Amino acid sequence: MSAPPADGFDTVLVVDFGAQYAQLIARRVREAHVYSEIVPHRITATEVAARAPAGIILSGGPKSVHVPGAPELDPGIYELGIPLLGICYGAQLVARQLGGTVAATGRGEYGRTALERQGRSQLLGLPGDQPVWMSHGDSIVEAPPGFAATARTAESPVAVLEDAGRAIFGVQFHPEVAHTPRGQDLLEAFLHGACGARPTWTMTSIIESQVEAVRSQVGDERVICGLSGGVDSAVAAALVHKAVGGQLTCVYVDTGLMREGESDQVVETFRRHQGIELIHVQAAERFFERLAGVVDPEEKRKAIGERFIREFETAAQGLSDARFLVQGTLYPDVIESGTPDAARIKSHHNVGGLPDDLDFELVEPLRALFKDEVRRVGEELGLPPEIVWRQPFPGPGLGVRIIGEVTPERLATLRHADTIVREEIAAAGLERDIWQAFAVLAAEVRSVGVMGDERTYASPIIVRAVTSDDAMTADWARLPHEVLETMAGRIVNEVPDVNRVAYDITSKPPGTIEWE
Ligand code: XMP
Repeated sequence: MSAPPADGFDTVLVVDFGAQYAQLIARRVREAHVYSEIVPHRITATEVAARAPAGIILSGGPKSVHVPGAPELDPGIYELGIPLLGICYGAQLVARQLGGTVAATGRGEYGRTALERQGRSQLLGLPGDQPVWMSHGDSIVEAPPGFAATARTAESPVAVLEDAGRAIFGVQFHPEVAHTPRGQDLLEAFLHGACGARPTWTMTSIIESQVEAVRSQVGDERVICGLSGGVDSAVAAALVHKAVGGQLTCVYVDTGLMREGESDQVVETFRRHQGIELIHVQAAERFFERLAGVVDPEEKRKAIGERFIREFETAAQGLSDARFLVQGTLYPDVIESGTPDAARIKSHHNVGGLPDDLDFELVEPLRALFKDEVRRVGEELGLPPEIVWRQPFPGPGLGVRIIGEVTPERLATLRHADTIVREEIAAAGLERDIWQAFAVLAAEVRSVGVMGDERTYASPIIVRAVTSDDAMTADWARLPHEVLETMAGRIVNEVPDVNRVAYDITSKPPGTIEWE
């Protein structure tokens, strides 16, 4: 796994014993303004020493330390004199590997639990009990030599263990989750106190360091950036523009499959407000031509993807002196492509992206950042909230939300319904609680209805709204009935050729978020 560029910052390594836990911890560390990086649990003491981190955090993980083959830490890491905090599974590893006892007591703790202080503690701050979030089966029953047990719960005699001299700590609970109200204080006590890490990871310094990195990579060469209309490419472009100004040219391929007003907004924002040179490729007609008669979802995706690449290449040929291509790769993509689980990412998600074999060197200024950091960098760079807070949108656009052939008329119908869905979600103040909310047109289904005295025979719109953390899994959003009612009423009344609205209550799995 190649490390993202973040030179000059104190770094805390988060050792990954369970991917979701590790990412959440890394984000919390960064909220404390300390740069964090996720590393695989097989990392060796020599590799850690070479990185010279300010601290190490062992993440939680799903396994019991007693299961044969359960992952362990290279014991040499404990000898490096680097402050270390084990969380949940990580705390049990500390206890077990340094000579304490972890027992399968058969009495686990799950959910909110009262933590009771026992004596002086470097981590816990104010005296007194506090609620913490637990999720464990095994318990540490005896701390290793040299460690003090500084807090307990009903089922965990050693819920917090500390060796202040060696700066090695363990907590059985999860300080990284919101359900542990004083968890962030604990992490900060570890980071700023025990590790002495400087709180320098701020929006201003992130931008400065990335601008510097882009400048030294690019020199005075030409750079191209493909804008998709999404957050990542927008922020990457704005950052590169800040670094190299007029050396950057953006290409926006307008497929005609975007949502209402979206293309105008991209052009307006980049050309007028940011003053970035922008090639606006108006390709809608060529996309419609290519999509005529195409019904099969895979064929449709392929057709859109290939057309997109061809349009981009044609535009780029006019910029033959460009050596660099900007990509909005984020930190989670970097971590995932370094794990055996990378295969989980469906190939279709690259539709609307560019192939790997283009003849450019990549500039990836967001490679070290999580999505929430990208949004804050975007705000700091002056991008409008509608772009910074935009929901994910598939590369093939509204094309994969028309079930059946894509025609300009059907697209107009879907776009109109989609606008109403988004307006009502915004009016209800739900935009930031919902991962994606959109309309799907079941163009080839017809049902009978009645409007006024007239019989209708028209297509249904399906409304899809989901909650999710990463799009790998999703749940259907429990939208208030009143919101659904207003939405459905407006769609049937305002959108011609639609006489019925259905709400999709399928989670992922077994469904996917998109319909095609
Ligand atoms: P599914 O439908 O697989 O979608 O549950 C998961 C997430 O990916 C988005 N998506 C795409 N994004 N190109 C993209 O850039 C694509 O071809 C594509 N297909 C789906 C989808 O909107 C959801 O957020």
